[in-house]
Amino acid sequence: MSMLTRIFPEGFLWGAATSAYQIEGSWNEDGKGESVWDRFAHTMGRVARGETGDVACDHYHRMKGDVALMKELGLRAYRFSISWSRVLPEGTGAVNERGLDFYERLVDALGEAGIAANATLNHWDLPQALEERGGWPNRDCARWFADYSRVLFERLGDRVAMWATHNEPHVTALGYGGADFAPGRCDAAAEYRAIHSLNLGHGEAVHAFRAGGKRGPYAGKIGIVLDLHHYVPAGEGEQDRLACERAVDRAQGVFLGPILQGRYPERLMEWLGPLAPEIRAGDLELCFQPIDFLGMNHYFTFKIAYAHRGGLLRHSATQVSEPGLGETALGWGVNPIGIRAVLERVGPMARGMPIYISENGTAMRDESDASGYVEDRGRVNFIRRMLIELHKAIESGINLRGYFYWSLMDNFEWASGYEPRFGLVRVDFPTQRRTPKLSARWYSGVIEHNAVEE
Ligand code: NOJ
Repeated sequence: MSMLTRIFPEGFLWGAATSAYQIEGSWNEDGKGESVWDRFAHTMGRVARGETGDVACDHYHRMKGDVALMKELGLRAYRFSISWSRVLPEGTGAVNERGLDFYERLVDALGEAGIAANATLNHWDLPQALEERGGWPNRDCARWFADYSRVLFERLGDRVAMWATHNEPHVTALGYGGADFAPGRCDAAAEYRAIHSLNLGHGEAVHAFRAGGKRGPYAGKIGIVLDLHHYVPAGEGEQDRLACERAVDRAQGVFLGPILQGRYPERLMEWLGPLAPEIRAGDLELCFQPIDFLGMNHYFTFKIAYAHRGGLLRHSATQVSEPGLGETALGWGVNPIGIRAVLERVGPMARGMPIYISENGTAMRDESDASGYVEDRGRVNFIRRMLIELHKAIESGINLRGYFYWSLMDNFEWASGYEPRFGLVRVDFPTQRRTPKLSARWYSGVIEHNAVEE
């Protein structure tokens, strides 16, 4: 078989991603307030093996070294998130200067290393104080979020290249409807109210960004990160097709609709009946703000069937894997063509707006040698297969501008704790030693050549 080199467009942005709660640790240091994830992880039975993000990768103390590592790997951009309760311990009101300083030092270290800063404002860790005031189901949360965002725009708006309002708001909302993510309320109506406040908060924050600050307009771009997976109906029939539509609308349409088109998916709203969120005059205009880019996290392909006992949406989902590619350590299917299929579906909705893969990656049962090195050929193959599909998507006209591998380093995988390892860099948690895996070295080569070998 001849080797084909797929060269990416000039300026394609190569990066890696993390989030605050998953790597920082120092959960109550330097004036940081408690977040819903601190509370959740400290509650018995919520996280596997009782693990918490109290220490995580100790990134709060090791930030400088971690940025040096990113530079060594040749990353062009780094996607991280800001802990709201580190900056505003009560969620609103007084700024915790030491917390804000940490992010300023991070952004400056990235600047010195020549790495573009891509900051997410909400990666699930709502201040617990705001949860006690109703959390995301309370529509006031939209205003609290915009006020918090303004603090960050004011301080870092001259240096951050890309801002994202929310990360996977779909999952934030699941934290209200279900038990797997914080705050774990198990309240279906709260889940749908949360969706609407998240959309309003996004709109208010984008609006605040556009209004600019005391010193004029901000330098960077602003968008949102959605988890956009691939869904296919299990069969040809009408019932499976409609169940699949409900699943897509629930996971994606409730955000893509208001944010890109100024409306909620009608059929789903009808289906929800009294559970549908209350929409007031002016709300949809507020959600529908022009944004600069769409961030897409991608992990799954699901086959959706109608299921009479399939919960509120009357559906059941099964994972799809390309034959021979097996599944990840979390039991997730691996189906590279899915990433292109989503881009081809969502691309037209984005009407040419730049799209970034803001996350994509695989959890593996990594085994390290005595020196801490992991020869993760499976991860290399995973990324390579995804990049080939992304390159084909670009060839077909999708305006894809960058790729962020999840994750830069092994970290706290939410309710699954530390066992699933997603990193390009191995973290030995007892010693906090970082060791780049084979995949990190390989990815450096991809970045250097701006190309992948098929
Ligand atoms: C999506 C989330 O944004 C991130 O926090 C998580 O660790 C990865 N997916 C893997 O599950």
